[in-house]
Amino acid sequence: MTPNCLTRTALACLALAAAAPAAQAEQGLDEAIKIEAGKAFFASECQRCHSIDADRQTYGPPLENIIGRPAGSVADYAYSPALAKAGFTWTEGALIAWMEDNQAFVPGTRMRHVGITDPVVQAFIVAWLKDAARSAQ
Ligand code: HEC
Repeated sequence: MTPNCLTRTALACLALAAAAPAAQAEQGLDEAIKIEAGKAFFASECQRCHSIDADRQTYGPPLENIIGRPAGSVADYAYSPALAKAGFTWTEGALIAWMEDNQAFVPGTRMRHVGITDPVVQAFIVAWLKDAARSAQ
């Protein structure tokens, strides 16, 4: 059990417990489990502001196909000036840095600080975003 289990869904908690014993253990986890856990974390940490479906209006920009997409590039979304002119393309590494401390990564962004610092949780959320992009094609 990790302390995170107190606040996480049972599925994500199980996945975390499975990943805990060895460093880098999340790399050995079955991809489907990572995606399921990432879906649960996305639901609890991101989904109240973000959809992965570009057709649905939410408070934050849709995250459909986010990896490989230029930052601040959804045409009809009113980004902060900081993100609109950030001038980089989203990679897995950029997403991880953003989840960890988005306000340090792009100072002036309107997204409030989320502070996902656990590398296992970061990897799960990235796995889910990648899978969601695949499913949308
Ligand atoms: C409280 C609402 C809120 C939450 C929770 C939130 N976001 Fe955001 N997010 C935003 C807003 C608002 C923006 C636009 C920021 C700007 O324009 O500066 C944004 C922007 C982004 C972007 C940039 C998208 C682009 O088109 O360049 C990414 C990536 C992102 N969020 C990922 C996440 C992830 C992953 C999570 C969960 C770990 C999350 N966000 C949680 C509100 C939120």
